[in-house]
Amino acid sequence: MGRLAVLISGRGSNLQALIDAIEIGKLDAKIVLVISDRPGAWGLSRAEKAGIPTKVIPWEGEDGRTAYFEKMVGILHEAQVDLVILAGFMRLLSANLIKAFPHQIINIHPSLLPAFPGLGAQRQALEYGVKVSGCTVHFVDEGLDTGPIIVQRAVPVCDSDTEETLSDRILAQEHETLPEAVALVLSREWQIRGRKVICEY
Ligand code: GAR
Repeated sequence: MGRLAVLISGRGSNLQALIDAIEIGKLDAKIVLVISDRPGAWGLSRAEKAGIPTKVIPWEGEDGRTAYFEKMVGILHEAQVDLVILAGFMRLLSANLIKAFPHQIINIHPSLLPAFPGLGAQRQALEYGVKVSGCTVHFVDEGLDTGPIIVQRAVPVCDSDTEETLSDRILAQEHETLPEAVALVLSREWQIRGRKVICEY
């Protein structure tokens, strides 16, 4: 059974989707640790309610970036984690963490990458005028939302959409997609060729 760590910064609805998928037997995994960079993150309460250990590592600014993630590497190793999931974790990881967990860190992003990386992906999509958007789960590399893509799911963009209505439509897909992507990665039935993630079944 895969041992997961989930990194959050806020609401934690994707964390909840993972908790629920495990509870109903859709995902054979155990969340052994939830880490937040923000003490007040609502997702921490969700973890506590589900009996999952939590740890807050408060962000200390860009100057302390490498040391921050070095500390996280130690905590993740101690928890014997197989897979690290960024579920609304709003920090760019440093190289030391990525190197410590090769192809063992995944992120969910609310756009069809490579379109609209970074913050405010839904707002970027609306401003650009695309007719389709969606969500992407990808392996994390050192770039901003640039790693190999594992799963994508599309949704329509309506003329009447606001940032909120589009975000809600995408979020509903995120909650389906993330547990599926985690199950796929844990199955080890994939390989990476170039930057393509190829499923072997
Ligand atoms: C989600 O929409 C996730 O895709 C996004 O933050 C939200 C977190 O929601 N992540 C990013 O934008 C990362 N660049 P949640 O805390 O309810 O899971």
